[in-house]
Amino acid sequence: MALSSEQIEAIRERIDIVRVIGAYVPLKKQGQRYLGLCPFHAEKTPSFSVSAEKKLYYCFGCHAGGDVFSFLMRHRGLDFHEAARALAKDAGVELEPESENERRRRQEHEELSRVNGFAQAFFAHELWQPAGAAARAYLGKRGLPEAFARDRQLGFGAPSAALFDYLAAKKVPMAQVAKAGLLSDDGRRCLFEGRLTFPIFDAQAHLAGFGGRRLADGNAPKYINSRETALFSKRRLLYGLDVAAEAIRRAGRVVVVEGYMDVLACQRAGIQTAVAALGTALTAEHAAAVARLCKEALLVFDGDSAGINASHAAAEKMLASGLKTLVAPLPAGRDPDSLLREAGADALRDRLAAASPAVEHFLGTAFAEAEQTIEERALHAREVAPLILALPAGLERDLYLARLAEKVGVSVEQLKTHLRPKETKKRPPSPPPITAGSDSSPSSDPPRAPAPPAPDAVELEVLRDLLLHPELKPKLADLTEFCSNPMRLLLEELATTTAPNAEVLARHLHDPKLVLRLSGVRPYEMEAGEDVGVRANRTFDGVLRRLKRRHVDAALKDAKTQQREAKERGEDTTEVDRRVQNLVRRRMELKRSGPAVSAPSN
Ligand code: UTP
Ligand code: MN
Repeated sequence: MALSSEQIEAIRERIDIVRVIGAYVPLKKQGQRYLGLCPFHAEKTPSFSVSAEKKLYYCFGCHAGGDVFSFLMRHRGLDFHEAARALAKDAGVELEPESENERRRRQEHEELSRVNGFAQAFFAHELWQPAGAAARAYLGKRGLPEAFARDRQLGFGAPSAALFDYLAAKKVPMAQVAKAGLLSDDGRRCLFEGRLTFPIFDAQAHLAGFGGRRLADGNAPKYINSRETALFSKRRLLYGLDVAAEAIRRAGRVVVVEGYMDVLACQRAGIQTAVAALGTALTAEHAAAVARLCKEALLVFDGDSAGINASHAAAEKMLASGLKTLVAPLPAGRDPDSLLREAGADALRDRLAAASPAVEHFLGTAFAEAEQTIEERALHAREVAPLILALPAGLERDLYLARLAEKVGVSVEQLKTHLRPKETKKRPPSPPPITAGSDSSPSSDPPRAPAPPAPDAVELEVLRDLLLHPELKPKLADLTEFCSNPMRLLLEELATTTAPNAEVLARHLHDPKLVLRLSGVRPYEMEAGEDVGVRANRTFDGVLRRLKRRHVDAALKDAKTQQREAKERGEDTTEVDRRVQNLVRRRMELKRSGPAVSAPSN
């Protein structure tokens, strides 16, 4: 159920943004504002500012900014509704009464996590009792020190009868234990009996359920989990996310590994950003959950064929969520856990450092063998194509398609005909034509060798501003996430190269007139006494805001389309409704934080 805009306003009005943010970030009053170290990037001098009056925060270093809702969303990885609820509770603001459904859902969640909490207390206790000897021996074999196992709240599923006695003493009815998904189908045994247990938390730190590993060789499944419940959903949960969220946000990157032991191994090697799915393939929901926290995913999988397939599928989901995706393959038969034990933390870290972009990686492995039959090449093309098509439309995707075509030995056009149905479906609406005065209009050319889409008008304006203020170069990276692919590549190169601007522009823009016009741009003469830094920053802020606006508008349009389609198909629209609402709010925020976007002027 959606919150009305009045309710949202009421929360915002009544909440003290300084107090809420101050709970996470130490703030010091300075004039009208409060200043602190930005929680969204690493810094030593405070550039994070909160205005009680405007009820906004802004970082002059990384340009993170927004209101109290977006702060919580970003800082804790919540969606808008979760943030609103947390805020209402936190500030003692009376939110609209919960609907009957919401109340039931919340109570069910609370009940489930309460029962899980009791089970967890029991498991964690038993691991260090005589009954837990075999499990402790197993920890030793896997190289996990006691203090670490305690810290990660590992446990042992002592005999079911003992658990049931414990739960009875805590007045937990067996019906609730069953409902929490802890029992075998006949209801007589605890699923985790005789197993090492791993507690699994959701993003709100509810104890959602458990994973359990068998200790000895045998026929029983190696790992099992709690049954699916309202709280325990394998499609959504990621092991380790509760511990890693903060580090992921700071690093801007998540490391995805295969198993619990791998997550723990990474943590021990100092890699605090590791998470794992729960023995299932990575889903779009998983990808969306991490995409809320960061921009880049590094997939670390076993080098055997199962691992390769898993990372391939995972990469597709990550790319489709808009994450920059890298792959760090391990030698066959190794996982982070065994690598750490056999070769040490440095070896593991080296592997991660040697990651390569996912599409690059899978193109390489698919066509590694020089001599391939026609069938093999066709097969590999079909395998790699979905990854390429998961990329946003743009130069990068076209370049990869060209590479794939070359590997397969057909023309790009032929390749595209085969891939067309999916490709045309995924292609977002084309950007507006480039600025007036440029006569490059790809649509009038026959689509023989389609030129990569040119940056659009807003982007070109940005580019001009940046060329005017070379001192902004170090900040270019902040812009790239809001740009189309061609523009992003161009900005990235501009930011890192020492080559003359004209040369870089020529490489990326396929319209000579445009290159000429842009490369002829000279920095303004400054008025006496005018501060270059101030002026440049003003330009930059305006530019960033413009790009964000457009980015959000496009995402909103997209989400609305999905919403409509889901409704037409009669599907559940809760998720997409929320996304739409979030984006509407983002747009409002952007409007609030700056003057309206003027039409591009040149
Ligand atoms: P594997 O079965 O490949 O585990 O499942 P593994 O890496 O060989 O196990 P170890 O290292 O010997 O202990 C991969 C991972 O998927 C999760 C576990 O974390 C497991 O490590 N998993 C698997 C589940 O959570 N539930 C399952 O039912 C199966
Ligand atoms: Mn393993």
